[in-house]
Amino acid sequence: MAKLRWFLLTGLFAVLAIVWPALDPARDGRHAVSHAQEKDWESKKIVPFVPTPQEVVDRMLELAQVKKGDVVYDLGSGDGRIVITAARKFGVRAVGFEIDPDLIKESRENIKKAGLEHLAEIREQDILTVDLSPATVLTMYLLPSVNLQLRPKVQKELRAGARVVSHAFDMGDWKAERVEQVKDPAGFSRTVYLWRIRDRAGR
Ligand SMILES: C[S@@+](CC[C@H](N)C(=O)[O-])C[C@H]1O[C@@H](n2cnc3c(N)ncnc32)[C@H](O)[C@@H]1O
Repeated sequence: MAKLRWFLLTGLFAVLAIVWPALDPARDGRHAVSHAQEKDWESKKIVPFVPTPQEVVDRMLELAQVKKGDVVYDLGSGDGRIVITAARKFGVRAVGFEIDPDLIKESRENIKKAGLEHLAEIREQDILTVDLSPATVLTMYLLPSVNLQLRPKVQKELRAGARVVSHAFDMGDWKAERVEQVKDPAGFSRTVYLWRIRDRAGR
């Protein structure tokens, strides 16, 4: 008798385990949400991941004259190399903004491995929605159209004295203070642009 009860209970459990997912009323809703979230970040990813060579990262931060007390924002931070370099070489707070979950995970791991969690962080956020006002140095390696899309925000939100450095792409007719060619390890020339936010009197 005990054996039969055990047999029936085990059987019932096995049947429930198989049919439960189909009976769960919230299941379809949850799946729809996770698919929508997936689509959501994919549709917001407006620039592919292409890393800036380390030599160019170093020069970008030198050109911006990063110093103690600066706050570096990297828009579209990829594997985190710019924020990591800013924190490691210059000892400043550095924040990267990234939308791709794999890159967010990888860059956070890279920060942890470098022992820089006290200075560097990656925020999961669409670059078009970031409040730029806390940054004193803004770095970007995006696309010409995205630079132009961001330009009004950059000019409005950054405070006087803030520096903007862009790898490869300019900002239309906003004249750069400096334009430099930097050789990458393959011998190709990379262009780096520097702008400085002026005060209202244009200083
Ligand atoms: C060309 S990579 C530059 C990576 C890094 N800044 C560097 O210079 O090595 C551009 C990055 O922007 C990210 N990205 C694209 N669209 C984005 C968005 N709407 N919000 C946040 N990050 C975005 C991509 O996933 C990618 O990692």
